[in-house]
Amino acid sequence: MKVPHLPSDFVWGVATAAFQIEGATAEGGRGRSIWDTFTATPGKIARGEHADVSTDHYHRYLEDVALMSDLGVDAYRFSLAWPRIQPDGRGPVNPEGIAFYDRLLDSLCEAGIDPVATVYHWDTPQALEDRGGWLSRETAERFAEYAAIVGERFADRVKMWIPLNEPMVMSIFGYGIGEYAPGKALLLDAIPTAHHQLLAHGLAVTALRAAGARAVGTANNHSPIWGEDPEPVSFLDALINRLFADPILLGSYPEVLHDRLPDGFADDLPAIAAPLDFYGVNYYEPMAVRAPRTAGPLPFELVPVEGYPMTTNGSPVVPDGLRELLVLLHERYPEMPPVHITENGCSFDEIHDSDRIDFLAGHLTAVREAMDAGADVRGYFVWSLLDNFEWSKGYAPRFGLVHVDYDTLVRTPKDSFAWYRDVIKRSR
Ligand code: NOJ
Repeated sequence: MKVPHLPSDFVWGVATAAFQIEGATAEGGRGRSIWDTFTATPGKIARGEHADVSTDHYHRYLEDVALMSDLGVDAYRFSLAWPRIQPDGRGPVNPEGIAFYDRLLDSLCEAGIDPVATVYHWDTPQALEDRGGWLSRETAERFAEYAAIVGERFADRVKMWIPLNEPMVMSIFGYGIGEYAPGKALLLDAIPTAHHQLLAHGLAVTALRAAGARAVGTANNHSPIWGEDPEPVSFLDALINRLFADPILLGSYPEVLHDRLPDGFADDLPAIAAPLDFYGVNYYEPMAVRAPRTAGPLPFELVPVEGYPMTTNGSPVVPDGLRELLVLLHERYPEMPPVHITENGCSFDEIHDSDRIDFLAGHLTAVREAMDAGADVRGYFVWSLLDNFEWSKGYAPRFGLVHVDYDTLVRTPKDSFAWYRDVIKRSR
């Protein structure tokens, strides 16, 4: 499949997250996170899998940096593990945690790969969860302190900063339906966790800038919402797309959610809307919705998106959804900063993964089309460099450009790795 021409300064990257690849969960002075607790709870993760070893990136990071060097990416998006840096989420900093990321950053810089750091990718220190986690406003304040710590230590080498990854997933999957840690099923009562994460984002933007950060943005996940019934479509759009984008980009919340937000929420909006250097979009699939057929607590009912090829993870492959989404965001937010696709990818089993190549080529075509329609897209990060721990689904979904054998930890580049290397080379 042909890949369209993208500008020669387009940023090509790959992405990972600490809990999904590092392993070494009880080493190097790391504290316990909500995901350690969740994976140790029977029935939460497919086949009872956990991430104690995972891909062992903590010990094999040099091999992984060498793989990226061979791939020829401009940038690597990874996450800092809060419990490695600050084991209890407040108070003392763990020098061994700092030392690990120092080593990683130095090796990336030596390889000429720009580090893109996600400050938080869902691994809340358990000690903070015990004090209320994202249901508590205090967590936003602790997060700002943590962001200041990592900013001061690492801003000399990190090129782009992303305070929180996909806060929507934390609110909905972590606190709304309980499929992810911390496993609470509060439905729409989870919405205060959105406000506290947004406040955490805004306070962290300011803290990172004060520490000398060069560029600060987001990694918000978005989905076009499809359906015939306007009310559920607009409600789900508010919940999935606007809840985290409107406050950041417009300084306001969708009105339909106002009565579920914490008292005094409006006072925090100026902090939340701190200006950004880029807006990161994670895209996987569209969602379809209709009015509920039976009375229940939610004003919508999800329906499957049918008629498309499926990944092994059960996601429909809809490249044009990315074009639709980027154009929608471009039209909805006149002050939108430059966009980076901070995640896009798919799970397929094979090492000869022509399905993944088709997926990536199709989505890059969608990016080009959105740019032709006016969207200002500057970069694209494939999720993921390596096969890794896919949260409650364990190791079965394989998202990597590089295959990982979980018995031997041997890394084997897939066909898509060679293909992506070629795309990058040719675009320069
Ligand atoms: C988004 C999340 O940020 C990442 O952690 C996850 O593995 C991918 N989606 C794939 O589901």
